[in-house]
Amino acid sequence: MDFQDYFSDLTRQPGSNALAELFKLTERPDIISFAGGFPAPEMFLPGEAAEVARQLFEEESTTVLGYSPTPGFSALRDYLAERQSHLGMPADAEELLVTSGSLQGLDILGRVFLNRGDRIIVEAPTYLGALSTFASYDIRLDSVPVDSEGLNTAKLEELLNELQRQESLPKLLYTVPTFQNPSGQTMSYRRRQELLDLAVRYGFLIIEDNAYGELRFTGEEIPTLKALDTGKRVIYLGTFSKVLSPGIRIGWIHAPAKIIERAVLVRQAMDQCSNSLGQLLALEFGRRGLIEKQIKKTVNLLAERARLTIDLIASHFPTGTTWTNPEGGFYTWVTLPPGIDTAQLLSHAIENARVAYVAGAAFYAGEGGSNQLRICYSQPSLDDISRGIPRLAKALTTTF
Ligand SMILES: Cc1ncc(COP(=O)(O)O)c(C=O)c1O
Repeated sequence: MDFQDYFSDLTRQPGSNALAELFKLTERPDIISFAGGFPAPEMFLPGEAAEVARQLFEEESTTVLGYSPTPGFSALRDYLAERQSHLGMPADAEELLVTSGSLQGLDILGRVFLNRGDRIIVEAPTYLGALSTFASYDIRLDSVPVDSEGLNTAKLEELLNELQRQESLPKLLYTVPTFQNPSGQTMSYRRRQELLDLAVRYGFLIIEDNAYGELRFTGEEIPTLKALDTGKRVIYLGTFSKVLSPGIRIGWIHAPAKIIERAVLVRQAMDQCSNSLGQLLALEFGRRGLIEKQIKKTVNLLAERARLTIDLIASHFPTGTTWTNPEGGFYTWVTLPPGIDTAQLLSHAIENARVAYVAGAAFYAGEGGSNQLRICYSQPSLDDISRGIPRLAKALTTTF
């Protein structure tokens, strides 16, 4: 029985399996993977985690093994409120909802705001997980290009004018303004102000996904959109996945309390609450200063890995290739000369050169990206980067 008559339209969409297949392949130890956006495993603090977990089980076993309140443990919400405030985004606990990772936060917001046929704007390129989440709603997506200053606000304004003429303005705009996944680009201060102005003028809300914002290794700090938002138009998604551990699955939504109330209702019908152990681990790590310690270590490691990756791309990739120079985060975004199709070359790169990446087209809501690819330099060691980037360059330019 192949269950075809039972599956939903959503799971019938072509290509929805491709990435899962790729990720399976990249688990092979003989492959150097620049594909998954994973933190460097050396950054985890297993000894500290074991110690904290042991104490939690000894001293608070009923809490650890029980359900938690849907919005999250109040001690964690208080801690997060303080942390957000410290990062320039004053928050009260009732403006925070603890989620099972920030991707769940996005899904919750989708359910809070989106009706069939609603319109939302995303960046081109944008985070693949967000595109998958939005694909589960029957909505219309429009894209605005990202350049070296982040989301192009002039192009956004043109689009908004056009949509206004059609009486079809968007409800939401989703952006990863800092060390964007996949491009590594950061939205300039000027563009942030312009985007906030446009949100007020055209009446949409902004979802700011800041998964990488604390991982700056060079350049000047820029305030988050949430920090600059005077009109209460920004809904912020935070996560501990890239700075502590993706396995504990702890993220949060920071939004006006009225939005959080709705989000809590929606959340009750999903998984009810985040896992208690993950919440308490994050809280204890935070209280002991271990998150900050891990961020410092991670930033140094990312700086080294990014530098080496980019130097090697510069010396090995074909003439006419361009790439981004991220000031933080996990990714550089490579544009090859026209005619090189990165999706077509992927299986060749994996099978013959034993390197993996994510082909650019996956990051676009519409057309685009056929000669682009995302390289994640966070996970492979310096040694793997030294061997992997030249092999990747060769795979992209030679047929075996
Ligand atoms: C921009 C962005 N948002 C959200 C996530 C998902 O993070 P989480 O593990 O918190 O769901 C990722 C992970 O790759 C990401 O790159």
